[in-house]
Amino acid sequence: VSDGPLTGKHVLVTSGPTHEPIDPVRYIANRSSGAQGTAIAAALRDLGARVTFVTGPASVPPPEGVAVVRVETARQMLEAVEAALPADAAVMAAAVADWRVANAAGQKMKKDGSGKAPALEFAENPDILATVSKGANRPALVVGFAAETEKVVDHATTKRLRKGCDWIVANDVSPETGIMGGTENAVTLITEAGAEVWPRMTKDQVARQLAARIAQALA
Ligand code: C5P
Repeated sequence: VSDGPLTGKHVLVTSGPTHEPIDPVRYIANRSSGAQGTAIAAALRDLGARVTFVTGPASVPPPEGVAVVRVETARQMLEAVEAALPADAAVMAAAVADWRVANAAGQKMKKDGSGKAPALEFAENPDILATVSKGANRPALVVGFAAETEKVVDHATTKRLRKGCDWIVANDVSPETGIMGGTENAVTLITEAGAEVWPRMTKDQVARQLAARIAQALA
């Protein structure tokens, strides 16, 4: 652990997608690579924080020098997050599936020859960010993300209030931005004071700026 402004602080970071099983061999997922969450965990570590990194099945490896907790589903992620508290700050960068398959099969689903496709039913997953923000063990600073494809600031501002977190890092993930799965990000930081538009930069630079802001806020 390096020495820095976050030495002695525990920061929880969630990252990556979640996988929600359909049957033992199939799942529903999303396009999150885990790149931004991984970069944030590394940047916090570099400022001296003790980092617990709760990650879904991401396509980039977790950073070194952090405590990695691997999960698959949203419900497992919530359990891991609650087990990791208390923390001084939490950064919830995971792209948690909003729904899981309610009628997931215990055995591999088979074509039955009738030509009829199975019907999946969905149930809403717990909202990890809202649960932590409103929970008894709430970290002093809770940061959420908002991946939007339109009206980014409006939606993110509403989201900040609804979820009960302190900050929202909002970004535009429209396909034409190339942000989802790419190396760059263009974010707007929403705080109680309003919206701050950051210039487009690499995900590593976003991570370092955010880590520096977190250090300031916890100082
Ligand atoms: O509601 P939405 O998914 O857009 O909110 C995004 C933010 O909420 C992210 O910080 C994400 O990690 C978090 N989230 C969560 N649990 C969910 C859904 C989203 O923690 N079930």
